[in-house]
Amino acid sequence: MAIPVLFSAPAASWESYAPFLKDLFAKAGLDVNLVQSTDNPDEVKYIIYAPNGPVQDFAPFKNVKLIQSLWAGVETALQNKTLTQPLARMVDPGMSEGMADYVLGHVMRHHLGIALHASVQPGEWRNDTAAPLARNRTVGFLGIGALGMYCAHAVAKQGFNVLGWSRNLKSDDIVDCHAGPDGFAQVLGQSDILVLLLPDTADTENLINAETIAQMKDGAAIINPGRGPLIDDDALLAAMDSGKLSGATLDVFRTEPLPANNPYWTHPKVLVTPHIASETRLETSAAVVVENIERGEAGKPFLHLVDREAGY
Ligand code: GLV
Repeated sequence: MAIPVLFSAPAASWESYAPFLKDLFAKAGLDVNLVQSTDNPDEVKYIIYAPNGPVQDFAPFKNVKLIQSLWAGVETALQNKTLTQPLARMVDPGMSEGMADYVLGHVMRHHLGIALHASVQPGEWRNDTAAPLARNRTVGFLGIGALGMYCAHAVAKQGFNVLGWSRNLKSDDIVDCHAGPDGFAQVLGQSDILVLLLPDTADTENLINAETIAQMKDGAAIINPGRGPLIDDDALLAAMDSGKLSGATLDVFRTEPLPANNPYWTHPKVLVTPHIASETRLETSAAVVVENIERGEAGKPFLHLVDREAGY
């Protein structure tokens, strides 16, 4: 019998993913019945999932071996109490590449002080602001998982001194890795530019707050392509108003779309981007989906399973 796989993501994603997935399933020698809806939920073996897809009640899918998310962030999935089946987050090399472009671009923007030159008035000749060399600047990454580490390497390749912080200590040839409260303080205290690529969990909420900002270098900048709740917004705004921080590039917010009256939109030190830092890329993520289903069928352990205790 063909393997029943349900695709529960918005219709537009189906249009783009379905041909790719079918092709890759065939190449992998998997006989798959890929459907957008079903009358027999207990027959479904795998669900390809996006939080904004049609299925919200997962209780009837009693025999599902894996729910494979198309999204890297799984906080919405974990809030769904009906979703108790094994869940894999998306670790997509294409998303990492796109994220590295975004992070490197905005690191360079802060490094070169481009916002200043973009804001000068005609005739205002501000030639007192040449940037130091990249190797004399330190970029810290809070979160050096698949995405963070990839971006950290891209930034290091540009010449910056790169620090990374994670829950469990990692080791890396290029990134100077830290963990725990002491490591956190070191990364905060040394970074000229701080990049947030942590998941949204109970432990990471409001990690950037008045107290932790006070530990940062004067004039440091923050780039947040991770998740909105990592930042206490009032504390960040206050730190920019007081001059403690030089600026922020924010891609993710507690409420999205960011409401028109949110002060971030008009703050002179903030650049808002609308959750576009990166996204799952079709070809590379379809390959990850197919690989995990192939593993399930071969009785091998799934890749990128979510640890519900840790929240990611
Ligand atoms: C995007 O934000 C994702 O979680 O994939």
